[in-house]
Amino acid sequence: MPVNLANGEPLAWDAPGLDADTKAMLDNLQANILRAHVREHLSVLLVSFGDGADGRRFLHGLVPLVKSARTHLAEVRAFNGTRAPGTPYVGVGISKLGYLKLGHSTTGFTDNAFKSGLKRRTDTLSDPPVSAWEAPYRGEIHAVVLIGDATEATVTATRERVLALLPATATIVGEESGHGLRNAQGNGIEHFGYIDGRSQPLFLADQVAAEPGHNWTPFFPLNHILVADPLAPKPARHMGSYLVFRKLEQNVRAFRQAEEDLADALGLAGADRALAGALLVGRFRNGTPLRLHGRPSSDGHPVQNDFSYRDDPDGAKCPFSAHIRKTNPRDSKDGGLERVLGVMMARRGQTYGARTDIPWDDAPPRTRPTGGVGLLFMAFNASLQSQFEFTQQAWADNSGFPVEGTGHDPVIGQGRREGKVSFPKAWGSEQHGAPQQQAPQTVTMKGGEYFFMPSLAYLKSL
Ligand code: HEM
Repeated sequence: MPVNLANGEPLAWDAPGLDADTKAMLDNLQANILRAHVREHLSVLLVSFGDGADGRRFLHGLVPLVKSARTHLAEVRAFNGTRAPGTPYVGVGISKLGYLKLGHSTTGFTDNAFKSGLKRRTDTLSDPPVSAWEAPYRGEIHAVVLIGDATEATVTATRERVLALLPATATIVGEESGHGLRNAQGNGIEHFGYIDGRSQPLFLADQVAAEPGHNWTPFFPLNHILVADPLAPKPARHMGSYLVFRKLEQNVRAFRQAEEDLADALGLAGADRALAGALLVGRFRNGTPLRLHGRPSSDGHPVQNDFSYRDDPDGAKCPFSAHIRKTNPRDSKDGGLERVLGVMMARRGQTYGARTDIPWDDAPPRTRPTGGVGLLFMAFNASLQSQFEFTQQAWADNSGFPVEGTGHDPVIGQGRREGKVSFPKAWGSEQHGAPQQQAPQTVTMKGGEYFFMPSLAYLKSL
């Protein structure tokens, strides 16, 4: 029975009666796709091959290090039971130019964005010109190797093992290091100080059971992230996923200043000033969703995610422009755009850059970094074009989404931010205050690439 990618039920990966194709899929799918792998410390190697045959040997040599989805899921279960630590994550992605260099035809790949490569999508995405990207991203990148784990020592040791396999004809054209950023409660945050990585599409029965949704269900079918690996021996059971990788620099000082300016403009005082940032993001720094509370909730653990915007049709609580409402409209209109259009992708980013200040506190903007820190944005997609690119272009960069006058996504919107935006006079008020200047762009794309994360069966076949 071919893997049922459109199954309306989450995947019970450990069910005794699992069919042979689904079992083979789990044994050949790379880890970190179906479920996030721990990557508190992350090394990203950007590789360029000088010789196709050497490149194929390198990728084949990585097989013992590349964990399957099934092994990862079993490790997570063992860890939850006995705290037995798992093994490091090694993931491999290949770009369109990489496949060509390895001597493959790319006609089997159906995603046009992947087949163009990120450099040729700057107009679509309103990205800076390639000449303004950081040097490693300006040239050809053929493959990416992701190495992640809970400790720096295991990542360093695994990185050494990967580098030892690299042939003399291949070059590491760039390298990034990600390190988890955590708030005082130990929750993962991004550099503006907000809890991140909370809302994810979930695909597995055990994860969905742990997060029952009454107002919004996080379950999504596998066809949101998995596609047949066209170059694998049996594409119907050997699957992969498209990875978008983008280095997004965050100007924390400018974002914090935008929060202060909005708080001033709205006349917010004292503890209420935190509302300004929540109006931009859609959650308070501690993750409390603005849809549910007008102030940071102290019972926000686990950070609530069971909400939709159905009962907030005019944005009286959470504005249409807020980052999380722009990028996931949650059944707000037209019966659930994110489901109808299949837009939700699995985000697997990691923060980069060191901080000497405390990212989640209220210290003034002038004490904040203006660069050198940000997000290594990564997400798995079944279609880069209709998921990542659609979210960025048709929603975040579109001031008319979901309605005219909404404005850009204040966090990630790119392109000219014209027109003013208005916010409710108070949280939950149907009346809007005076129109405000849109927050300036504080996230800058520094480079990236599109990759396909092939099946283990493909890597073994090389
Ligand atoms: C959620 C920040 C880039 C799509 C969030 C959240 C934060 C955040 C704080 C709330 C936590 C959560 O619900 O998981 C940022 C920052 C970014 C960035 C600082 C850049 C530096 C992006 C990009 C995209 C994106 C490039 C897609 C094009 C999403 C989505 C959600 C989200 C889909 C979940 C919304 C939901 O389901 O409610 N982001 N993000 N983000 N972000 Fe971003």
